[in-house]
Amino acid sequence: RVFSDGFISGDAVECSINLQLVGEACFTNPLIVAVTEWASANGDEMTPTVFLSIETDELRHMANGYQTVVSIANDEAASKYLNTDLNNAFWTQQKYFTPVLGMMFEYGSHFKVEPWVKTWNRWVYEDWGGIWIGRLGKYGVESPRSLRDAKKDAYWAHHDLFLIAYALWPTGFFRLSLPTPEEAEWYEANYPGWYDMYGKVYDEWRARGCEDPNSGFLPLQWFIENNHPIYIDRVSQVPFCPSYCKGESTLRVLEYNGKKHSFSDQWGERMWLS
Ligand SMILES: [Fe+2]
Repeated sequence: RVFSDGFISGDAVECSINLQLVGEACFTNPLIVAVTEWASANGDEMTPTVFLSIETDELRHMANGYQTVVSIANDEAASKYLNTDLNNAFWTQQKYFTPVLGMMFEYGSHFKVEPWVKTWNRWVYEDWGGIWIGRLGKYGVESPRSLRDAKKDAYWAHHDLFLIAYALWPTGFFRLSLPTPEEAEWYEANYPGWYDMYGKVYDEWRARGCEDPNSGFLPLQWFIENNHPIYIDRVSQVPFCPSYCKGESTLRVLEYNGKKHSFSDQWGERMWLS
């Protein structure tokens, strides 16, 4: 189950849980409310206007998800799958949204506003996982069991992903920039331990000439030299490096029909097995 797959495939209730209850009720707030702040801090006056208008429409979509749950609450045949579907939907969406949005905001903007982990905690953990899902408690809905692992990802997964993304850029069709010394200071202040894990690696890459193709050094070499293989999670398709990460990724490899499949977490593995 990759990000957005569950929006359009599955039964009607499962799609509504994926798109409206999780995608829209849980993740449009940290995406859209935050993007207006990041954009205006970086000199873009158009995006905040457009996206605040879009978010008012998202409220309507959230209500559809709420009503879907209410409408099946008394149907035992449907409601017995509700919490498993919700957990799968939450993990599927968070596996992509949590690292990618955090990476785009923090590493894609020169002027920083609120750290992603704070935005995430307010909207995903407290507002959605606590208040929104809490109000559905009377219909038998529980906060997803994977929320705890997602909380760890909210702190570190976008830093893990940027390390891999930066290492890959010379092989792709995009160019990324290393954090400046001022940015590195901001990361360390907001994510204590950032420098020891990521900052010192960027310093090494910079010293070896990664910003100049003539140096002949590709950051990807660093992963190979240090025996840190990069895998792609079979379910979410998000790349991960299990031996060099601080997020919730751990390696598991399953063999099926003579082929090996790698997974980064128990939640994706469970979905693949079922
Ligand atoms: Fe929507």
